Amino acid sequence: MPQVWVRFHDQRDYPIIIEPGILPSVGAWARRRTTGRTALIVTHPRLLRLFGPAVKGSLQAAGFSVHVQCVPEGEKTKSLETLNRVIGVMLQARLDRRTLVVALGGGVIGDLAGLVAATFMRGVDFIQLPTTLLAQVDSSIGGKVAVNHALGKNMIGAFHQPRLVLIDPLVLKTLPLRQFRSGLAEVIKSAAIADDKLFSFLERQMPEILKKNSKILTQIIQKTCAIKARIVAQDEKEGGLRAILNYGHTVGHALEAYHHYNKTYLHGEAVSLGMLAAVRLAVSAGVADIRTQQRQEQILRQAGLPGQGQGEKIEEIINLMKFDKKAKDGNLNFVLTPKIGHARISNKLTPFSVRRAIKTVVSGSRTAEGNNGQR
Ligand SMILES: NC(=O)c1ccc[n+]([C@@H]2O[C@H](COP(=O)([O-])OP(=O)(O)OC[C@H]3O[C@@H](n4cnc5c(N)ncnc54)[C@H](O)[C@@H]3O)[C@@H](O)[C@H]2O)c1
Ligand SMILES: [Zn+2]
Repeated sequence: MPQVWVRFHDQRDYPIIIEPGILPSVGAWARRRTTGRTALIVTHPRLLRLFGPAVKGSLQAAGFSVHVQCVPEGEKTKSLETLNRVIGVMLQARLDRRTLVVALGGGVIGDLAGLVAATFMRGVDFIQLPTTLLAQVDSSIGGKVAVNHALGKNMIGAFHQPRLVLIDPLVLKTLPLRQFRSGLAEVIKSAAIADDKLFSFLERQMPEILKKNSKILTQIIQKTCAIKARIVAQDEKEGGLRAILNYGHTVGHALEAYHHYNKTYLHGEAVSLGMLAAVRLAVSAGVADIRTQQRQEQILRQAGLPGQGQGEKIEEIINLMKFDKKAKDGNLNFVLTPKIGHARISNKLTPFSVRRAIKTVVSGSRTAEGNNGQR
């Protein structure tokens, strides 16, 4: 069965297990990865209905006494208020330091439950059972956990690695297609920066991927997890290399912030536009060739991700990018792909070229230098 390890070469090492139908075996896996006898499942009501019986039953069969805490769906749930409420419930139930927190859901649940685990009694074990494609290939791996502050997303957080990530591609059957495509943007991103073979595979298999063929999904999830695991293991706290995972995110985050994180764009949709801006920028800066741009444009289109914005005001987008926590000393950092499967960070781009590349994306005009007449 496909396994990927996140290796720090200490006791924090953990496996990512990827297998269709694995979810009902979570108890046995959890048993191997923690010593406690009590588990708290954090999830949404909808996911509790879909997957609760299998997860709870399996944990109980493995000897855990199981508590469940449901929280509402949506980004607003990633708040100090919810964190406080969940911890209150844990204290009332007299849960102790050996409690295992089980995150059953997408990135919202993983980030929130992860921060619960990082902070409850100074830190307890947790495992990730990601149920969105985005969470399976991205947010469940790497130990970044957080809630939002009114003044900024993910501003209250920690690095707290899970003990185990268990990925069942079959759970994606019920995931709405728009959410699924959004997760695909992160798969495409990872391939674009680090794995040209995966990128070609995506180009060939996109129709099967969109049909949620579980064999193909297992392959792409494994490859994408392997990329993230490798990068995170080398640079846990984003001192350098980990930043390449932010490909497409400089503009993507600004677009999400511009719309106040409402549903104008899902995360992956904003990142998709961000990748388009970045690759056009790379071409105009002479870093990438036109073929690299065309292949990224085409795969994003094949995946059904948006190719242009909603006429956002360019100056506001630029200001939001400068405000992004990853902007260093006011300099705009861009991850660029010189060719498929390779990434490099540049902060030497002229404001003019940056503005022009973003304009081709947000205004919907496709005429950037070196891009005239494309498509
Ligand atoms: N920690 C990290 O490294 C990291 C990385 C990327 C994103 N994130 C965070 O992840 C969050 C976004 O995560 P997301 O895109 O998974 O969204 P999400 O967690 O909000 O899930 C999307 C929606 O899909 C529903 N859903 C989930 N699984 C389902 C299933 N199998 N079937 C039917 N419905 C299902 C959920 O109930 C929810 O309404 C953001 O808060 C973002 O900041 C964190
Ligand atoms: Zn992302």
